[in-house]
Amino acid sequence: MRLVASPGTGDDPCRLITISSTAVPTNSSLRQRQTTLSSGGSSYPDVGDLLFSRRKPSILVVDDNVMNAELLRELLGGHGYRVTAVHHALEAEAEVRRDPPDLILLDVVMPGKSGYELCHELKADPATRLIPIVMITGLSDRQDRLTGIEAGADDFLTKPISPEELFARVRSLLKLKEFTDELETAESVLCTLGLSVESRDPYTEGHCERLAKQAAEMGRHLGLDEECTVALRRGGYLHDLGKIAVPDEILKKGSNLTPAEWVIMKQHPVTGETICRPLKSLRLVLPIIRHHHEHSDGSGYPDGLRQGEIPLLPRILQVVDVYDALRTTRPYKPALSHEQAAVTMQQEASMGLWDAELVGEFFHMLEKPGQVA
Ligand SMILES: [Fe+2]
Repeated sequence: MRLVASPGTGDDPCRLITISSTAVPTNSSLRQRQTTLSSGGSSYPDVGDLLFSRRKPSILVVDDNVMNAELLRELLGGHGYRVTAVHHALEAEAEVRRDPPDLILLDVVMPGKSGYELCHELKADPATRLIPIVMITGLSDRQDRLTGIEAGADDFLTKPISPEELFARVRSLLKLKEFTDELETAESVLCTLGLSVESRDPYTEGHCERLAKQAAEMGRHLGLDEECTVALRRGGYLHDLGKIAVPDEILKKGSNLTPAEWVIMKQHPVTGETICRPLKSLRLVLPIIRHHHEHSDGSGYPDGLRQGEIPLLPRILQVVDVYDALRTTRPYKPALSHEQAAVTMQQEASMGLWDAELVGEFFHMLEKPGQVA
């Protein structure tokens, strides 16, 4: 199968890029088509340059057919994009690790690992799941599309590829990626702020990292979906963000606070929620931030919610948070052993502080080899 120029339809002689099993384009024919596409009569002049003046967006083309990949590389490269072409899924994986692209154009049929398998793996990996993937399928392959959707593909291009369609898809998905990157940056700033709050108290060093990791593990242990697991991980970093408004002298005092100081301390869940509320991507994290100090018997804060009223995600984070606090040394207490922490938490759960069922599940999870913190 080869990619070649086609007479196409209408007035544009290079309107379609046709898959052919016979003809092979020469370098001069590729250059000629590119010249035609870039001419003043084209309806897609230098799209890449217009869109992103700050840096060239990078596109990874994955196609086992060298000529197909080369043609796409030349077309997109001629419009201001930084394009890398590879011809095997393993090469693509190495390239994504080396230099994560802003967009991937992925052929469905390849020897070895298929486009579907590669797409599924990239979308399952938190480090690469936000890279948009366009799958290139045959004209009438409805089943290809369904399988692609199941694999997590963001969009499709149908052979023969119309350059107009190609550039339109590329442009819109790169714009989406730009927004996603900005959102991720905003979240990173907030998570960094969360860590900076933690750094004000040397006794809690590493607490957020441990909490984020273990809360996400607990989410997976309970069979929660990816969105909830991600929220739990973010909640680990962000749950105490509101302490940014709590003065050092109160923060470092531990539990021996005056009634007036407690009033200030008890504001931190509300403050944290207020800071994070504008970010819609943190929608599931907001209840974790607001309710991580509620108690099942209604004695917690800020809303005095009871068992059945406290949402699941904050209850999960709370169990992980309490365990970590018990297992680490604080100015006002020594660290407990794993067994002592288990007994303490079960007792406190039976007294109406924590969700007893979740405490049981948490220690069940920790019983797995190598899990005890
Ligand atoms: Fe807190």
